[in-house]
Amino acid sequence: MMGVLGELKGKRDFILAPSILAARPLCVGGDIDLVRNECDWIHVDLMDGRFVPNMGCDLSVIRAMRERFPGLFIDVHIMCEPAERFAEIVIPSAPDILTVHAEAARHIHRTLQMIREAGIHPGVSINPGTPVSFIEPVLPLADLVLVMTVNPGFGAQSFIPQAADKLKELVRFRAVHSLEYLIEVDGGVRADNAASLVAMGCDVLVAGSAVFGAEDPAAAASEIKHRAACGCRAGLE
Ligand code: DX5
Ligand code: ZN
Repeated sequence: MMGVLGELKGKRDFILAPSILAARPLCVGGDIDLVRNECDWIHVDLMDGRFVPNMGCDLSVIRAMRERFPGLFIDVHIMCEPAERFAEIVIPSAPDILTVHAEAARHIHRTLQMIREAGIHPGVSINPGTPVSFIEPVLPLADLVLVMTVNPGFGAQSFIPQAADKLKELVRFRAVHSLEYLIEVDGGVRADNAASLVAMGCDVLVAGSAVFGAEDPAAAASEIKHRAACGCRAGLE
């Protein structure tokens, strides 16, 4: 039977997930159309003004995306607390992946179980200040681990290199324990760091401003993918 890594990643070396946080607020559908042929997933950020000092998106956007782009793979990242309560609210919108922050959940184990029982791939995320050891006990329950490489809440911030050191730890832990999660990096991803992130073991690159902030989002996405593919070759050497 194909494991979750194979199911989600297929034969791709890495996945690019443009974040609509950086799309034009009144043209989200049009902006997704612009990158549709260049991207594999679309990343959606939900923010509560409490766990992070910003608010963003709402469920109607996810439902509208489903209607307009039926085959689109929707990767939802909630920066909301309590995570368990917000997960309950988001589950009926049926994203493909639902990622919650470990720091925002009093019962992260139960929350990940609940997401899986709803037929959605569960993801767990950690902030730059949170070590991988904090989530080790729940990694067997996760189909995706999202490593924040900026402090969550805003787009277009500078990449925090120390946060990316967690990639190697996650790759090692996955191999030692024969686990299957994908490793996603979110925050400050651009064409010039895509290759090193993929070489360090990143499976999913989230890019907001680097894609939608560009004059030509499709060309920007294509450039990130091109550069990331070099990282993939480097990782194999
Ligand atoms: C920030 C969000 C990100 C955001 C990244 O908290 O989780 O998904 O869109 O934006 P960039 O790619 O511009 O750093
Ligand atoms: Zn995000």
